[in-house]
Amino acid sequence: MLLRSDITAALAAVVGIALAVQADGNTQVKDPATTAVTQREVSFAEEVLPILEKYCVECHSEESAELGLKLDTYEGVMGGSDYGTVVEAGDVGSLLIEMIASGDMPDGGDPMPAEELDVIKAWVTEGAQKN
Ligand code: HEC
Repeated sequence: MLLRSDITAALAAVVGIALAVQADGNTQVKDPATTAVTQREVSFAEEVLPILEKYCVECHSEESAELGLKLDTYEGVMGGSDYGTVVEAGDVGSLLIEMIASGDMPDGGDPMPAEELDVIKAWVTEGAQKN
């Protein structure tokens, strides 16, 4: 015969496992905004640059640099604009991210899809490395 206390114990075990799984999942999430891309390191050259090329270099490159901001090279991105830095390593609130998140950039264009902005956020959070 199954006692009430046995059922309670079994339930507690199940809940315990569920909580353990959840806790384990959480340890891999550095920032809720970047959940999609936290399992591995984001590459500037292979992932971030192609996104900037798609949405930004038309107005921010060596040839045409609005506000002196060039987004076609790593040095350009980290060099910032005439007003100063636009990417602070580790700071997901960096101006470049804010401008995209608010829809201000790309100027006059369609907003960048969240998945692509998440890639940039993850790269900045991971230290904005030249990788
Ligand atoms: C059609 C042209 C155009 C495109 C495309 C464009 N920008 Fe801009 N950007 C501008 C202009 C013009 C300014 C300056 C005026 C302003 O802030 O609106 C600017 C300003 C900025 C600034 C502010 C710099 C500072 O120090 O104040 C950032 C950051 C920026 N752009 C990032 C981006 C990013 C990232 C993209 C791509 C997602 C992008 N821009 C796409 C034209 C553009």
